[in-house]
Amino acid sequence: MRALALRVEYRTDPVGIDVRRPRLSWELESAVRGDVQIGYRIAVSSSAAQAAAATGDLWDSGRVSSAETIGIEYDGPELRSGQRCWWSVHVWDASGGPSGWAPAAFWEMGLLEDSDWRAVWIAPAVEASQSVGPPHGVTLDPGSPLASRFDLGGWRGPRPAYLRQRFSVEAPVVAARAYVTARGLYDLHVNGQRVGEDLLRPGWTDYDKRIQYQVYDVTPFVRSGANAVALLLGSGWFAGRVAWQDRIYGDTPSVLVQLQITRADGAVEFVCSDGSWVSAASPLLWSDLLIGECFDASAQVTGWDAAELDDTSWQPVTVVAPPTAPLVAERGPAVRRLRVLTPISVRQQVPGRWTFDMGQNMVGRVRLRVSGPAGTRLVIRHAEMLEADGRLHTANLRKALATDIVVLDGDDIVYEPHFTTHGFRYVEVSGLPGSPADGFLTGIVLGSDLPQAGEFECSHPLVNALQSNIVWGQWGNFFEVPTDCPQRDERLGWTGDAQAFINTACFNADTAAFFTKWLDDLIDTQRPDGAVGDVAPLVRPAMFGAAAPGWGDAVVIVPWRLYERYGDRGLLNRCFPAMAAWVDYISTGNPGHLWLNRRGMDYGDWVSVNAETPKDLLATAFFAHSADLVSRAAVVLGRKEDAARYGKRFQSIRTAFNDAYVTPSGRMVGNTQTAYALGIAFDLLPADKRTAAGEFLAADVASRADHLSTGFLGVAHLLPALLATGQLDTAYRLLEQESFPSWLYSVRQGATTVWERWDAWTENDGFKDSEMNSFNHYAFGSVGEWLYSVIGGLRTAVGSVGFDRLVIKPQPGGSINSARLRHHTVRGPVSVEWTQREAFDLTVSLPPNVTAEVWLPEVDTVTEGGTPVASAEGVKVLGRRDGYHVLQVGAGRYDFRTGVR
Ligand code: BGC
Repeated sequence: MRALALRVEYRTDPVGIDVRRPRLSWELESAVRGDVQIGYRIAVSSSAAQAAAATGDLWDSGRVSSAETIGIEYDGPELRSGQRCWWSVHVWDASGGPSGWAPAAFWEMGLLEDSDWRAVWIAPAVEASQSVGPPHGVTLDPGSPLASRFDLGGWRGPRPAYLRQRFSVEAPVVAARAYVTARGLYDLHVNGQRVGEDLLRPGWTDYDKRIQYQVYDVTPFVRSGANAVALLLGSGWFAGRVAWQDRIYGDTPSVLVQLQITRADGAVEFVCSDGSWVSAASPLLWSDLLIGECFDASAQVTGWDAAELDDTSWQPVTVVAPPTAPLVAERGPAVRRLRVLTPISVRQQVPGRWTFDMGQNMVGRVRLRVSGPAGTRLVIRHAEMLEADGRLHTANLRKALATDIVVLDGDDIVYEPHFTTHGFRYVEVSGLPGSPADGFLTGIVLGSDLPQAGEFECSHPLVNALQSNIVWGQWGNFFEVPTDCPQRDERLGWTGDAQAFINTACFNADTAAFFTKWLDDLIDTQRPDGAVGDVAPLVRPAMFGAAAPGWGDAVVIVPWRLYERYGDRGLLNRCFPAMAAWVDYISTGNPGHLWLNRRGMDYGDWVSVNAETPKDLLATAFFAHSADLVSRAAVVLGRKEDAARYGKRFQSIRTAFNDAYVTPSGRMVGNTQTAYALGIAFDLLPADKRTAAGEFLAADVASRADHLSTGFLGVAHLLPALLATGQLDTAYRLLEQESFPSWLYSVRQGATTVWERWDAWTENDGFKDSEMNSFNHYAFGSVGEWLYSVIGGLRTAVGSVGFDRLVIKPQPGGSINSARLRHHTVRGPVSVEWTQREAFDLTVSLPPNVTAEVWLPEVDTVTEGGTPVASAEGVKVLGRRDGYHVLQVGAGRYDFRTGVR
């Protein structure tokens, strides 16, 4: 057995963390079936040399008899700011054999004390960042019905500016770090080179509550002799437009930079932002996340980031007041370039206007490779869809102008915007002299760089297309925070959507670090009375009051799901007070246990179709579920009193729910799919009514000729509720439905991402007549969980933590006769593959420390690797249940074959 994939706080070799007792995790690999770790020893060393000898001079856990591989807290002496720790782990397998030390990994601490910051906040001189606008007379399509409503009028944004400082180092450099943050967005350069691949830093938080900083290892950039550190500073979320508003956190971008340079002679030098830095206007006339960016090539400053530049004509910067919010080390994955797309077609719409089809609804921007006479102005507009006449469909952008402008200076350029991003499939370029050359335009896909964790494929091509659409929707909308609609002027961290999609999200990607960061954002929205926001970060002045039912409940549901998925007890513990406070907030306003008051904006089962679920029923179902999860969290955390208190509350709400909304026959008020789905999924119904509720649910589906009616709150629970009540055939009929409204309807219409509304576009009505109509919105993609867990067959056993005990039980149906999935769990990769032809063949592969019950259709013979299962190595026969053979296996790969039916 060997340990691999060593991680610290979910990240590989992180530089700059401020968790004082970081938690260490690893995965295991073994060639032995059923292998488990029976012990480990962790050594944390103060240098690479010490690590090579695994001295553990900082901390040696000693041999610990334990199977644990997740979240083991560093328990050595307190760590210093900037300290780098090398670590390794040695494990013992089931036979007691030692693995030897895994190749060493490391982490490095950030700046732990306020006093570690010697730098001061600076802003560019006013001359350098003078606001520009309106954007060269660019407005929305004059023909658009929304043009006047969304007229940008005199929109102005601060002009992005350059800031720089020269410095010299009089000895060889052995180490250099840059500690950087901004109120705005920055690109850091040292000696003519951009540092790292991260984009749109320092990312988005509520800048009045918390500001993230980044730490970069700039050792390769700094040299002995003359150096320069330089930044491009834009407005971003801080001083640009967010949703429908301008400058919600501040007017003027500013930056904080501290370089710490260790010389070969042992001396440490600091280069810190201060009043001696200089600034100048950049060639970006404006740049805004929603509006777009304007680049004037003639305003370029050659060598702006190089030591050699004569910057004596630059303006002195202004030292500005520091924020009151604390600085925190970045916790989640940064936005990066995730993919590059080449257009699949280009056509000239009207003379001089070229429309490129990227073949995929994507989030990011385009990179242009272009030359043309000085003064040539290219206008690049983006849209998700085209109108019937081929023009861009811009009504659903609202005030997101999503327009980039490039002014050429006669030279060849390669240009990609810096501080903007759009949601689009089509790009219209006008102003180009002649026709676009080969390689003129490429699509650069941006998103938070989460490790990919899942793949799913089955024998149904449209279901595979749906899976692809779900994954693309996740890439585009996991952007700093879980957002909605990357195309329009919104892109907010909607809580309801996040809780609906989380299980699917976790199958597709390792979301642990991403959601850990976002939970900080969410808890930042919590008021003293326990209410949280509808969106996180909160957008001020508060656009919404306390959260609505099914939205605010994310503060309970998300930490719980992360616990189930990643076994993160520490996170659950940290979130517990916020979870309990939210439930108390609802309780206080609703002593009768039905959630009738304090429902905020009360969105209900948002964008459901042809069905209206009573809002008090919906709300009360979520109230019950949240109380239930808080009680379960209390059990895990050993909080006995809380467990009893919230358990009792769950029962009271459940009773009130049944009294108010469920008839003796099991029919529910409203009689909607969502009502039944929630009643069943949240375990709100007594056993005798549960089956009946499943029948009413199936009957409703049948009455709609196998179509769904659920909105955001019901959709994730619809197919699971059918499955749980013995209505699998109905579930498959819904999944395979291709006519409106259904999941595959949009796929049939050529969708490449999941739509916000079932009727976003229909043959009968064309585009939904609404400004709220995104073609890239992940909520309805929450069916992805069902693809992995029911078609693919990968589920967890009751009480499983961090995917340690699985149930592998593919349940084929409809026309689907094969599927395969890979899922990288927190304990390592799991794969499942099955085909059902004359026999049912199933291949399963599990990492060490994981066990699975494997359910195979009950037929006469079941073999593994050609041997009857009763005598197959590592396979335990548990018996027969509900028409299945039930077996148990541990680590390893198993090839099961059933006899011919
Ligand atoms: C957003 C959704 C959100 C909803 C709440 C919409 O504008 O796109 O994501 O959940 O508002 O009403």
